[in-house]
Amino acid sequence: MNTAQAGIFALGTSSHIYLEFDLVNPKLCKDFAAAVAAIREPRTTTGGVNFVIGFRPELWREMVPEHAPANVEGFNEDIEGVEGFVIPATQHDALVWMSSSAYDVVFDMARTVIQDLAGKATLKEETSGWAHKHDRDLTGFVDGSENPTLLDAPADALLPVGEPGAGGSVLLLQKWRHRTAEWEALPVAKQEMVMGRTKAESIELENKPEDSHVARTDQDKFGNIFRRNMPYGNVDNHGTVFVGFSAEQRRLTKMLESMAGLANGTRDALTRYTQPLTGAYYFVPSVENLRELR
Ligand code: HEM
Repeated sequence: MNTAQAGIFALGTSSHIYLEFDLVNPKLCKDFAAAVAAIREPRTTTGGVNFVIGFRPELWREMVPEHAPANVEGFNEDIEGVEGFVIPATQHDALVWMSSSAYDVVFDMARTVIQDLAGKATLKEETSGWAHKHDRDLTGFVDGSENPTLLDAPADALLPVGEPGAGGSVLLLQKWRHRTAEWEALPVAKQEMVMGRTKAESIELENKPEDSHVARTDQDKFGNIFRRNMPYGNVDNHGTVFVGFSAEQRRLTKMLESMAGLANGTRDALTRYTQPLTGAYYFVPSVENLRELR
């Protein structure tokens, strides 16, 4: 059994940074991969940093074809939903996600990573994430209630033994900006109809509307994923970093299409109050496959 990157399941961290890179010279992708695989976390426990390293699926297939999962692709085309709603594709070549208990270590480590990759890859997108009111996203709702437990999550998030890329995971990373003023103008009862859960206790509504967020992403229908969403941004411009891991890319793409109204014409009500700004898929290889790049 291959070992998953530990950062996927490292819950309880309050400071995050997501760095997305593009290769300077695509012909030198092995040099770049070796530099990524050589990244070293600080050797401390309390001040430690968790890493999750991912590659554009096509780039990974080119570098390590024997450990590339079948039919996994980058976010290469916008999803054009109903009513002119678009989920944009902003794919990059690699992702380094770091998380820790405090922002200073994440900040310092991020600077080291950028320096280590200098000349090989250019930083294209930097997003800082931080915990808000323990476990709430910036809509004020608890985020992650229907996540599988840590005992079940590996089976939902990781490619199974025997498949190419076993122990790896397909990650969907997106930045969604919130329309906070419009959201906060809604009475709580209306917000609950949008989400499909109660706000205070996060209890699923018995008669949740068809267009509620949890109806559009119902895991009983699409299959389970493992979400590590975090709030991001400043007072004026903020939202949710959607961080979703799945053993199968299809679960994630189908959920996005469903949110965009492509499943049955019903668009997710949450998309009327949040706007997707970025979207990329990364293959997050197992520790063993990553080590082979050195
Ligand atoms: C602005 C962006 C988003 C926000 C603020 C958000 C927030 C939430 C909240 C508050 C819940 C209910 C509690 C929970 O189970 O976690 C939820 C459920 C869920 N969300 Fe999202 N979400 C966002 C985007 C997405 C996207 C892009 C996907 C999929 C690609 C997704 C997939 C899910 C799933 C699978 C569930 C659980 C559904 C079930 O009950 O089976 N979410 N989300």
